[in-house]
Amino acid sequence: MKRITVAKTAGFCFGVRRAVDAAFAEARSGTPACTLGELIHNPRIVEELARAGVRVIESPAENTDGRTVIIRSHGVPPQVYEELAASGARVVDATCPYVEKLHRLAAEHSGESVTLIAGDPSHPEVVGIAGFCEGETHIFRSAEELDKIIPILDNGGNRPVTLLAQTTFSVPEWEKCVEKLKKVCTKLRIFDTICIATEKRQSEARELAAQSDAMIVIGGRKSSNTAKLAQLCGAYCDTFLIESAAELHDLDLGGYTRIGVTAGASTPACIIKEVHKTMSEILKDQDELSFEEMLNES
Ligand code: F3S
Repeated sequence: MKRITVAKTAGFCFGVRRAVDAAFAEARSGTPACTLGELIHNPRIVEELARAGVRVIESPAENTDGRTVIIRSHGVPPQVYEELAASGARVVDATCPYVEKLHRLAAEHSGESVTLIAGDPSHPEVVGIAGFCEGETHIFRSAEELDKIIPILDNGGNRPVTLLAQTTFSVPEWEKCVEKLKKVCTKLRIFDTICIATEKRQSEARELAAQSDAMIVIGGRKSSNTAKLAQLCGAYCDTFLIESAAELHDLDLGGYTRIGVTAGASTPACIIKEVHKTMSEILKDQDELSFEEMLNES
């Protein structure tokens, strides 16, 4: 019997929901608005906002017509706050409170220690966090990359080290990094800043992948947390990352009996439902006599 199971935690997290609600509220208010970078890594939401008149700018200098500027959940570095203040633009700050906490930790602890950030240096959230750090700062994507930084930490000199994580960093990779640093740093302050929504989503995705023959991970191809989910699931079973239901027609799911579905934090519930509906139709056609679905509310 074929079975489709959708993860309970699939879809929007609290911070993304808050930012999306703020942006659509601005659109409804009729005040001209723009987002600093695409609001979330989901093409459909970005297109809907564009149709509602909320355009995307890449820097405060591009806001030549004085629109309200919406800061997305990833946050921005202090220099961008300064540029926005200097421009006189009205600002709606939708930085996720978990990311704001990281900014506070970076500002508070970085000056007196070497700061290590576990995360993707090109990701806007990490660029924002690094902007709040004073003094020596290193960013690494994995325990393997951390190995190259450890020899330059000068722990013989007893320098304090502060360890922070991008909110969507992989939990197993973080644990490996912490273990490595505990062995070599005498003064190590560890702040586990991986957000609870990420932890829950990752652990549920792993559990579901372990019980499945294949996993469908729905999310934007530019979404870091979606890529992490796909990577984690890929350790257990065949895993397919898709942005929309239309892509299911290019996959051959016929050989799989237990198929799990999860989605990144920037995937709206309507896309998850469309994927589930399309999968059900495709699989029912292939296996008319035995079919069971378990759709969790997301
Ligand atoms: Fe915030 Fe966590 Fe989402 S940091 S934006 S609630 S993944």
